[in-house]
Amino acid sequence: MRIDVVTIFPAYLDALELSLVGKARRDGVLDLRVHDLRDWAQDRHRTVDDTPFGGGAGMVMRPDVWGRALDDVLADEVHGRRVLLVPTPSGERLTQRLVEDLAGADHLVVACGRYEGIDARVAEHYSVGPSLEVREVSLGDYVLNGGEVAALVVVEAVARLLPGVVGNPESLVEESHATGPQGGLLEYPVYTKPAEWAGRAVPDVLLSGHHARVARWRRDQALERTVRRRADLVRALDPDGLDRDDRSVLARHGWFVPPGEPPVPVTVRAGRPPDSEALARLAAATFPLACPPHLSQADVQEFIATHLSPERFAEYLADPDRYRVQVAETAQGLVGYTLVVLPRTAQEAPYAADVAALVHARPAAELSKIYLLPRFHGSGVARALLEAARAEVADVVVDGRPVGVLWLGTNATNRRAQASYRKAGFAPVGRRRFQVGGSLEDDVVMAVDLTGGTAGHGR
Ligand code: ADE
Repeated sequence: MRIDVVTIFPAYLDALELSLVGKARRDGVLDLRVHDLRDWAQDRHRTVDDTPFGGGAGMVMRPDVWGRALDDVLADEVHGRRVLLVPTPSGERLTQRLVEDLAGADHLVVACGRYEGIDARVAEHYSVGPSLEVREVSLGDYVLNGGEVAALVVVEAVARLLPGVVGNPESLVEESHATGPQGGLLEYPVYTKPAEWAGRAVPDVLLSGHHARVARWRRDQALERTVRRRADLVRALDPDGLDRDDRSVLARHGWFVPPGEPPVPVTVRAGRPPDSEALARLAAATFPLACPPHLSQADVQEFIATHLSPERFAEYLADPDRYRVQVAETAQGLVGYTLVVLPRTAQEAPYAADVAALVHARPAAELSKIYLLPRFHGSGVARALLEAARAEVADVVVDGRPVGVLWLGTNATNRRAQASYRKAGFAPVGRRRFQVGGSLEDDVVMAVDLTGGTAGHGR
């Protein structure tokens, strides 16, 4: 690859004689040439800049000087793809993706501006025509004194991708910002000898020799780092590259993965009185989806009007001794909720006799509602809501006894719901009849033992 850098400070780029880039030059992998822009100035003072048209502070680099310099540099016949790079804080961000793209070019010319930048006509002029791409690139959202540091960055980042420059090409695969299906994460932390230093031990798993566990630990660390430091990268993750373990790490940090979408941050929190309107809207949107097709619209709407109105939710939210509401919220609003009804007495019997047997007169709380927008089905949000609902009842004591059972009724025809409750530890314990509008429905009753035992018949 050929790279030409044009600058008023050629000495700035002396560092490119060192290390791997220096070696790549000596090995002939990289033909790097640095030019002094002032060689193309035409006055005694070798002037390259002038005052800005329209006024304002600072000086602007002259297009005629740059034009002569670039024409000369580009006059050398280099076959293949040619890119003129102009570092500027107002350029597109330099990313590993762009670096990889640039590494595929045959000739890069880097035009280092100083002062207030280069006359805008230069980039325009060289963009015309098919033989040269012009990319204005920024290292980041901060201002440097000129493009030389950016030139150093581009040359080093590109050169290390050229074949034969980095000794072990495998090290390019796992590092931060690697692209590809496993990419998009920051790199995991690394350790070397001594195994203990300053009272700090290397994580045990790294000494275990267990390759699969090491790989999993590293992946977890990479995910956690990325979640803590770079939410923008989490939002850009490819869902197809995320396995079950990845998803549970993300969920622990409040990120959930709707099917076919990148991760979304979802907060699960206790409902508050101002949520009542939004809860009623969410309930009206989600309840009909859980109803069997034989139910009439009128019955469904009657149920919504009586049990899921803003006024009802306001009542639930105002009475935490009786009701506990948890909501799942994104930046766009509520996407799910649960309602737990706490028992008033240890004897308060759930609907089904079987449940009463299970309960053994232990206080039993009802998971009265758990609903989620369909977009979030299969994202892990339901599980998080359920855990929050369980945590809600964990320390509730009724008649001097802790709540020992969480139970729920779900329409007998809703197999999908039953399967997911089963996965969450609920077991079927009986049946009940449930009134929806004018229709009496068959519900399956399921329960989970909160004391660590198994819910089910005869226990
Ligand atoms: N020149 C001045 N600031 C710069 C930046 N942030 N990136 C690239 N070139 C620059």
